[in-house]
Amino acid sequence: MQYGHFDDKRREYVITDPKTPWPWINYLGTEDFFSLISNTAGGYSFYKDARFRRITRYRYNNVPMDSGGKYFYIKEGKDVWNPSWKPCKTPLDGYECRHGMNYTIIKGIKNELEAKVLYFVPLKTKAEVQRLTLRNQGTKTKIIQVFSFVEWCLWNAATDMENFQRNFSTGEVETEDSVIYHKTEYKERRNHYAFYSVNEPVKGFDTDRETFFGLYNGFDEPQVVLDGTPRNSVAHGWSPIASHCLEVKLAPGQSKDLIFLLGYVESPDEQKWERQNVINKLPAKALIEAFDTEEKVTKAFEQLRAYWDKLLSIFTLQSGEPKLDRMVNIWNQYQCMINFLFSRSASFFESGIGRGMGFRDSNQDLIGFVHQIPERARERILDIASTQFPDGGCYHQYQPLTKKGNNEIGQGFNDDPLWLIIGTISYIKETGDFSLLNEPVPFDNTPGTEVPLFQHLTLSFDHVLNLLGPHGLPLIGRADWNDCLNLNCFSNDPDESFQTTENKTEGSQAESLMIAGQFVLYGREYAGLCLQLGKNGEARRAQRQVYAMTEAIKTYGWDGEWFLRAYDYFGNKIGSKENEEGQIFIESNGWCTMAGIGMEEGMVSKALDAVKKRLDCEHGIVLNNPPYTRYYIEYGEISSYPAGYKENAGIFCHNNPWIIIGETMQGRGDRAWEYFRKICPSYTEAHSDLHKVEPYVYAQMIAGKDAFRPGEAKNSWLTGTAAWNYYAISQYILGIKPDYESLEVNPCIPPDWKGYTVTRKFRGATYHIRVNNPDGRMKGLRSLTVDGEPVQGNRIPLKPAGSVCHVVAEL
Ligand code: GLC
Ligand code: GLC
Repeated sequence: MQYGHFDDKRREYVITDPKTPWPWINYLGTEDFFSLISNTAGGYSFYKDARFRRITRYRYNNVPMDSGGKYFYIKEGKDVWNPSWKPCKTPLDGYECRHGMNYTIIKGIKNELEAKVLYFVPLKTKAEVQRLTLRNQGTKTKIIQVFSFVEWCLWNAATDMENFQRNFSTGEVETEDSVIYHKTEYKERRNHYAFYSVNEPVKGFDTDRETFFGLYNGFDEPQVVLDGTPRNSVAHGWSPIASHCLEVKLAPGQSKDLIFLLGYVESPDEQKWERQNVINKLPAKALIEAFDTEEKVTKAFEQLRAYWDKLLSIFTLQSGEPKLDRMVNIWNQYQCMINFLFSRSASFFESGIGRGMGFRDSNQDLIGFVHQIPERARERILDIASTQFPDGGCYHQYQPLTKKGNNEIGQGFNDDPLWLIIGTISYIKETGDFSLLNEPVPFDNTPGTEVPLFQHLTLSFDHVLNLLGPHGLPLIGRADWNDCLNLNCFSNDPDESFQTTENKTEGSQAESLMIAGQFVLYGREYAGLCLQLGKNGEARRAQRQVYAMTEAIKTYGWDGEWFLRAYDYFGNKIGSKENEEGQIFIESNGWCTMAGIGMEEGMVSKALDAVKKRLDCEHGIVLNNPPYTRYYIEYGEISSYPAGYKENAGIFCHNNPWIIIGETMQGRGDRAWEYFRKICPSYTEAHSDLHKVEPYVYAQMIAGKDAFRPGEAKNSWLTGTAAWNYYAISQYILGIKPDYESLEVNPCIPPDWKGYTVTRKFRGATYHIRVNNPDGRMKGLRSLTVDGEPVQGNRIPLKPAGSVCHVVAEL
């Protein structure tokens, strides 16, 4: 069952039934002012940091679901309704929500009145525009009342939910004309306030929540709206809100726009005040003026559309398969951008409080994002690297506001440093900008400790070598990519965090085959980079270590039919046929096959076949099998999950592309494609009722074959799945791969594909690449012509910036 459809031309997903099986959300904002918005107008806004600069309040996991947002109440006679259906849930005569690229349009129709709200954050603007368009579709003149509503968050989203003894006394507002200012704590250490305005005179306003709703009423029955009488309440403590009341008269056929602006202002110390205790409103007024007419808003909206036209013109595909094209051309790239911006911090599954920017996560996000705005990728790489320690280790995350690493979800994840290598190299291959490597980058954000970025990469590489276990394989530390395989945690205390606790490390023999495979792959990349830089000695050293690791994997990491997952604290195997549960895992088999380890010996094809046989199911590839059915103190969090969910045999979509890429190494385009399609949102759209989350973006996890409800997805939007799937489809299936001095064409496709065309902008030139597959092959180029000239091999030599180049590749 579906709840809407794609509109590819407008790059929108159109939801036609407000009762989606879970709130289906979108993100507004491109730089520092951000909002999350659901299809029923739930959600919240923040500036830069969802924890420390939360602008509006939101209630997580509430009853009913998705409570709090940017609501408009319309009162006509006795009827009170919302264009977004919620919160009143008054039955509508028409409803539609269009989620587009950083904007959302929600339309409701009731009693021949159409109310349409366009929500977006204009480029380079610290404010959200809400344009409400009212249109009288009837034959009689209408007089209606419109009430806006947002609820202010007292800035720190964490303490806002717990420190009530303080919060209930701090709230302060000011009002002037049609603007409501939220200035809680402004006089102390803060230099920021927020405001909510409308471009018309108001009939009244409210800023005190209790007055607006009535203490015992819900969002669906605001007393002020029911009465049709604003109270002009001024909040003193308790919970400040902002609501405007406007009266609108509409002749038949007439329409009217009201422009609301939710903005954020930071003032320098000397310009904080107009007079004592009265905030300086000039910056807010300037912002309001920039969007106070329909023309200005339309222009800003067009600029946002043009921005996305440009971003999405860098890689475009015409495959003849609309479901694939819309993912590659629109939604997967869009999701990569959202992950770049938010890492794992703020979604309807991440509270925006617990996690900032992940070291591992953000580096991975780069591989899907870097072609879009390389300058921002560059800055991100430097930010991430600045949180590294002198020994190459790092914090697991940093806070976007301060850019400083913090220990809230620990450190000592021994895969973390290696991701910096691939993040950096992806950037250089995309741009050719080697100067990044010379940028001075500190350790742990400490001024005076700067060394060139390249040295951080060397330290990352050596960090693995300095921490080898008894089999010459990498020690796992707190955990590797799989945060829940906690081999040194040994937690017997339900109040301890699996993520930050290590009860046993002394003498640990816990080694990771996932990091081992990753080291081979990224160690080779590191060696390749050294060669590019003429550092031949360092390249040879790296190659020797990669060789040694490869041998260690073949000797101690092979279980006969697949790669082992790890050795535990005691040196016992994990992911082996000798185990009772958890006999085979996806991660090590993904990494070791992507790295082609034991290819000649048949290990790659055997491992992939074992994955197919033991881990694949209707909805994707599960993480491990059989699932753990009891708690293993020596394995940690993974065994705390019910079978079939999350890291315990869920389909962790993030790692499915590792197998997809592994299959392309083996040249099996049919299998790669089959796996790709299984978890791809546009293909699972048809069973949205089971899948539950948005059909336009990837989810982190789909319940696996051992789960109670296989196929049900959770944790949409913020997941490395976006970058990895984009990387897999664009670089390994479609096979268009940036390299230091060329663009590689090396497709691996199912035999029944006849061909496709990719347009790729790369280093200033445009390449139209036509791939033909007349003989139904899966991999291997028979010929490559560039502007009519045959070229040996599968690399397109770089063309001058500005040129347009026509390439034909035949399998
Ligand atoms: C989550 C985390 C990621 C981790 C993965 C597996 O997606 O964001 O860092 O690697 O889970 O545990
Ligand atoms: C939990 C999740 C895992 C996530 C980790 C870090 O363990 O299962 O996916 O990466 O938390 O927050």
